[in-house]
Amino acid sequence: MMTQMPSMKLRNTEVQVPIIQGGMGIGLSSYTLAGAVAREGGLGVLSSAGLDRIVAARQGKKLMKAREAAAQDVRDAKTLGKGGAVGMNIMVAVINQYEDSVLGSMDGGVDAIISGAGLPMALPEIALRHERNNDVALIPIVSSGRAMEVIFKRWKRTGRLPDAVVVEGPRAGGHIAWREVAEALAPENHLDNLLKEVFEVVKDWGNIPVVAAGGVYTHDDIKKYLEMGCAGVQMGTRFLATYESGANAEYKKMLVECKEEDIELASKPGSPCGMLFHVIKQSPFYQQAVARERAPKCDKGYLLNKGHCPSKHENEKTFCICNGLLASIDLNNQNEKNLYTVGANAHRIDRIMSVHELMAELQGKQVSAEMMNLPVEDVRAHQRVSQLG
Ligand SMILES: Cc1cc2nc3c(=O)[nH]c(=O)nc-3n(C[C@H](O)[C@H](O)[C@H](O)COP(=O)(O)O)c2cc1C
Repeated sequence: MMTQMPSMKLRNTEVQVPIIQGGMGIGLSSYTLAGAVAREGGLGVLSSAGLDRIVAARQGKKLMKAREAAAQDVRDAKTLGKGGAVGMNIMVAVINQYEDSVLGSMDGGVDAIISGAGLPMALPEIALRHERNNDVALIPIVSSGRAMEVIFKRWKRTGRLPDAVVVEGPRAGGHIAWREVAEALAPENHLDNLLKEVFEVVKDWGNIPVVAAGGVYTHDDIKKYLEMGCAGVQMGTRFLATYESGANAEYKKMLVECKEEDIELASKPGSPCGMLFHVIKQSPFYQQAVARERAPKCDKGYLLNKGHCPSKHENEKTFCICNGLLASIDLNNQNEKNLYTVGANAHRIDRIMSVHELMAELQGKQVSAEMMNLPVEDVRAHQRVSQLG
C-alpha cells in the first residue's frame, strides 16, 4: 500500500492528491461531485455541457447565458470544495458555447480547463484574452502522439504550451477518440501504448505532466501509472458511482447491476459528433434509437458535427444523445427516457459510495466501516441520494 501519493502541480495549482475526477457531461460531474472531490484534495472537474439549462434550473430559471452559467457552477463547486482545486471540462464539439464556457469558467475562478472531444486548437488564444490567463492551467485531452504533436505546434504560436496533458484510452466513459470499433479495440490503442507515444512527443517540449485516463479503477492501477512516469490519473466511472454525482437513481441502480456484456460502443446509430460512445445497452433511450423508434430530433444543439447536428434530420446513423443525458439527471424526463454512458469497467461497480470513501480507497488508505456510512452533510443536502431508496 502506498500511504502518501505525490501531489500534482498544474501550473500554479498544487493538487494534493494526483487524481482528477474527469468531467462528465451532461450534468453528471455536478458541482456537488466536483466540490466533494476538491475537498478531498483531488481536482474536481465540472462539465460545461448543458450548464445554461442545469444552473438555470437550480436558480428557478429556464435558460441562462453559457458564460454566466459556467461562472456560477465554478463558484458553487468552489464553495463546497472549501479551497480545493476545481476544473472545467469543455468539449470542442460543443462549439457554439466553447468560447463563453472558457471565459465564464475563468470568471468564476476555475483552476484548470480540460478540453477534448476534438482538438482544442483555439483554447490558449481564448484564454489569453482573460485577465486570469496566468492563473489557469490549460490541459488538452489527446489519444495519440500525433494529436499531441499537432497541439504543441499550434499552441506554441500563442506563446503558451499545455500545462499538462490527459491521455485518454479506449476504455474511457463518454465519447472516445475512435470512429470504428475495431480501431478502438486494436492492441496499439491500448492506453499503455498511447502513453508511450505521448511520452515520446512530450520529452521534446519540456517537463509537462502526463495524466493517464480510461480504465483506471483501483489504487494499484494508479500506482502503476505513477510508476510509469505519469503525474496523475483522470477517472470518470468510479466517480459516477458516488452519492454526489448528478446521475439519477435509475442510472446509479443500472451501474450497480450492469454486466460486462451490457456495455457497448454505440455506432450506427451513434453519437452525432461521430465518435464512438460507451453506453449500457439497456438504456431505454438507446433501445429506442437502435429500434429506430426515435424520430430525428435535435432541439438542444449542444453537440455538433461540422457546425450542425445530423440527428436533426436522420435516425439511421446517429441519435440525439443530449436529450437522453438530460433525462438521466432528471432534467428532461417528462418526454424523454434515460441514456446511460459509462466506461468499459462499469460492470465492476458493486455499490454506490461517498466521495470521501472512494478517495480514501484510491489512496490506499484503510476504509473503516464508519467511513462507509459517513454522513456527508452539506454535500448530501444538494444531492438526490434520497431517491436511491
Ligand atoms: C458518464 C461519463 C460522461 C463523460 N463525459 C465526458 C465529457 O463530457 N467530456 C469529456 O471530455 N470526457 C467525458 N468523460 C470521460 C471522463 O472525463 C474520463 O476521462 C473517463 O471516464 C476516464 O475513464 P474511466 O471512466 O474508465 O475512469 C465521461 C465519462 C463518463 C463515465
